[in-house]
Amino acid sequence: MKMFVYVFVPTVAFLHFANSQQPCRQFEMATDNLREVIIGQCEIYQQNINQPIFCTEGFRNCTEIWEAFSEAFKFQPRCNVDYHRLDRYFTLTDHSIPKDKSLFWENVYPFVIRYSNRGRRFYALSDTLPGYIANGPQWCSNESDTTGMSPPGTLCPGWEATPDCPQGAQRAFWIAASINYGSRASGEIFILLNATSDPIFSNNTYNAMYELPSLRENVVTKATVLLLNEHPIQGQTKCGDPTLDIISSKVKAKRIKYDCIENRRDLVETFCFDYPTADVCKILDTTSSSSFTASVLSTTLVSVFISSVIFID
Ligand SMILES: *[C@@H]1O[C@H](CO)[C@@H](O)[C@H](O)[C@H]1NC(C)=O
Ligand SMILES: *[C@@H]1O[C@H](CO)[C@@H](O)[C@H](O)[C@H]1NC(C)=O
Ligand SMILES: *[C@@H]1O[C@H](CO)[C@@H](O)[C@H](O)[C@H]1NC(C)=O
Ligand SMILES: *[C@@H]1O[C@H](CO)[C@@H](O)[C@H](O)[C@H]1NC(C)=O
Repeated sequence: MKMFVYVFVPTVAFLHFANSQQPCRQFEMATDNLREVIIGQCEIYQQNINQPIFCTEGFRNCTEIWEAFSEAFKFQPRCNVDYHRLDRYFTLTDHSIPKDKSLFWENVYPFVIRYSNRGRRFYALSDTLPGYIANGPQWCSNESDTTGMSPPGTLCPGWEATPDCPQGAQRAFWIAASINYGSRASGEIFILLNATSDPIFSNNTYNAMYELPSLRENVVTKATVLLLNEHPIQGQTKCGDPTLDIISSKVKAKRIKYDCIENRRDLVETFCFDYPTADVCKILDTTSSSSFTASVLSTTLVSVFISSVIFID
């Protein structure tokens, strides 16, 4: 009898899920219920992720934001969406970003959002309302569909340019978002890069093409590259890598000071919380060789993590 119950319960659960109308989708395919998803992301950000900003600056109307978002893309050419069409969306979604908290990045997703911790340590673009709303959903324009958009399940051009699709809807969105985000930074900015990627930095990144050029002279005072090197060599640093000259020359042209730090301790601690066996985690032992201290460190990280989960919920 007991055996029957064990078998029966999961079967009921399975049938319940199997009744759902929603098909499985590959990540690049246009999101189902895009309107509800965009409005939902917008509400969640304001209610749960970062409510205090809106208590001060005023809550935004997510229906109006959806309208500005969708109007930017409806009936546009699939591979040539003008990013200026998003101006109204950014007018409606922009909020202040604290000084010294802007974090730019390349080649470190999704680690970067664990490190930024939803604005508690830093704000990456996807930790702000305009970026959070669109981070995850997939969508694209279709001039000939009655809705002006491609239906759910369509394979959409991504956020990288390709020779036959230079600027699809999502690339247009992230270009506008990057320009906007760069122009709103103040004080010291940080750029998180991955020393294991080859090259470490390049001219055709969103950061080099849209974010650094939109930094404001005299408002941004310093740019610090935070380099995560998963395989460090003692006595050496990848901060001397020639591709980083792209950044230093762009910021110095705006009289912004430049610095680079490889494996800053808080960065490595956050990384090693999820990947404790990585090479780089050995450098955390240098100040203490005892496993007791290491376990105190992980306990501290666990409590920080748990308290942030409780805070969010
Ligand atoms: C929010 O915007 C929608 C669409 O523009 C509008 O119909 C609605 O009245 C607005 N809601 C509030 C509370 O202002
Ligand atoms: C850094 O880049 C390498 C090579 O692309 C990749 O395997 C690794 O996951 C990246 N590290 C992070 C933290 O994203
Ligand atoms: C655009 O929409 C039309 C009409 O619904 C459809 O026939 C066509 O396949 C769509 N194009 C793309 C690239 O999804
Ligand atoms: C990046 O672009 C600049 C300016 O066009 C050029 O001088 C530099 O050589 C390029 N760097 C790399 C690594 O491609």
